[in-house]
Amino acid sequence: MSISRDKEEVRPEPFILKDSLPFHYTEGTLKAIRDIIFKKEGFDLDSYKDKCIQRRISYRIRTSGCKSVEDYIETLRKKEEEVKRLLSALTINVTEFFRNRSTFDKLRDVVLPDIFAMKERERSVRIWSAGCASGEEPYTVAIILKESFPEELKRFNISITATDVDEEIINKAAAGVFTSDKLTGLDPPLRAKFFQESGDGYRLSDDIKRMVSFKRQDIFHEGLNGENDLIICRNLLIYFSKEKQEWVQNKFWKNLNPGGFLLLGRAEILVGESRKFFLTVCPRERVYRKPF
Ligand SMILES: C[S@@+](CC[C@H](N)C(=O)[O-])C[C@H]1O[C@@H](n2cnc3c(N)ncnc32)[C@H](O)[C@@H]1O
Repeated sequence: MSISRDKEEVRPEPFILKDSLPFHYTEGTLKAIRDIIFKKEGFDLDSYKDKCIQRRISYRIRTSGCKSVEDYIETLRKKEEEVKRLLSALTINVTEFFRNRSTFDKLRDVVLPDIFAMKERERSVRIWSAGCASGEEPYTVAIILKESFPEELKRFNISITATDVDEEIINKAAAGVFTSDKLTGLDPPLRAKFFQESGDGYRLSDDIKRMVSFKRQDIFHEGLNGENDLIICRNLLIYFSKEKQEWVQNKFWKNLNPGGFLLLGRAEILVGESRKFFLTVCPRERVYRKPF
């Protein structure tokens, strides 16, 4: 299982990547699409890798039955719902509970104990999950805390903030209702303990839900996100140009307390100047740390 998962990390959407780029894009057509998305949804595509964007646009062109990029631009101008569909195709929401389990083992066995030791005096810990999609990642952290750190949960004031640019997905995350196929990463005892079957799917227990607060936020917004002890940002940076990855990693550095940890996705690494600013704790699990 881990072998195929690893492959999936590098190529998260094989159904899209199978297609080469059958449509012809020019600077002008790409700009027209970027402008429409920005005007109608306030979403700036400039930071995303061109090939990545083109693959997704091609997927929508074909699915919407358009014949060319120009034809598709006309459709985007006329149909609000196609703009939303394109945005949804651009912000891929693939995620799962305990995605790359060994990373969460490292979190439980090394990172969280270290954070609690470091914050013993203040008794407050802040965690930020950036690009959280439908919430499985921050909820996994909450489940780990509940299962493995019951004493710390009593003694520490722990906040988990989860953000994503996609409003629809963030609302879904906050609702905490999952279809059965979304629970496959969970061990049956955890599933039984924290989820209850209901008419619309499996409802996450209020205990866990209360531990995470969700907020719609673009990672490129300029403001600060507080002084965190742990930032988890997995499988988001792969979509950005190197330059933007560096910008975001620099932002993470500013938003971490000294000694705070950064967790990236398996296919992601530190780039540019960020390599000098962080210490590598575990290269395999992509765990980095801001020096004291
Ligand atoms: C592939 S999911 C990763 C989910 C989770 N972190 C994981 O690894 O399982 C990427 C998420 O990043 C979000 N995203 C894309 N661009 C973003 C941006 N500019 N700011 C914040 N979130 C963004 C998408 O909406 C999507 O939910």
